[in-house]
Order: sequence, then structure tokens, then C-alpha cells
Amino acid sequence: MPALSFVGGALTQPLTVVATPDEPILDLVRRCDDLPLSWRCGRGTCGTCAVRVSHQQQPQPLLMSRKERNVLVRHRYLPQSALQQDTFIDSPALWRLACYLTANQPLVISLDPPSSEDVS
Ligand code: FES
Repeated sequence: MPALSFVGGALTQPLTVVATPDEPILDLVRRCDDLPLSWRCGRGTCGTCAVRVSHQQQPQPLLMSRKERNVLVRHRYLPQSALQQDTFIDSPALWRLACYLTANQPLVISLDPPSSEDVS
């Protein structure tokens, strides 16, 4: 059972939740009222659920779906030049959409909003 630690955002201290293996992160958020992760569509289109994720296997190549990439570019979490890429370096600096994430390993999920340097 992977432990997911949520940090930053409205949290004053890390909040750790045990997920079922491969549980979608938004399902976890739906069942845990105290997780302040904002989301709206739940389908990877609105960009509201953007987070940054850390885990033990980073850095590593990440094949990102075109839909997730395009939404991240549209909301300026990735630069326009990212439209030419399918593969990214999975690192704690990479923005992801929580809609696309599952609890497949222990994760640290940052809920901090982007700073002016984070968005392109
Ligand atoms: S909730 Fe809309 S993109 Fe994730």
C-alpha cells in the first residue's frame, strides 16, 4: 500500500495518506476530505489539479500523454516548445495533472501553487 505525502499549499504540515495500489489520486482526494487539492473536471482538461510530484525513481524519462501535455502547455505549466515533445524528464520540477496520476509507489505531492518562475 503506497503512502502518499501531501505537502505545501494550504497544509501547515505534511499530510500522509495510505492509498490502495494504483488508486487514482483524485479518487484518494474524493475520499479524504482534508486533502486540499483543487480540481474541477476530473478528466484532464481544466488544468486545475496541477501538482508537482517527487518519488524515489526520479529522474527518469516520462512518456506523457498528448492530452496532459497540451493542457499543461495551455495553462503555461510547460513552455510552448513542449508541444514538440512526448518524452519529458520526470523530476520534482515537472508539473503534472493529478487526473493522470495513480498511487503506484510512495509519492510526495506538492500542492504549492506555481511561482512566477514556474510558469512560462
Ligand atoms: S481536474 Fe481538471 S485537469 Fe485535473
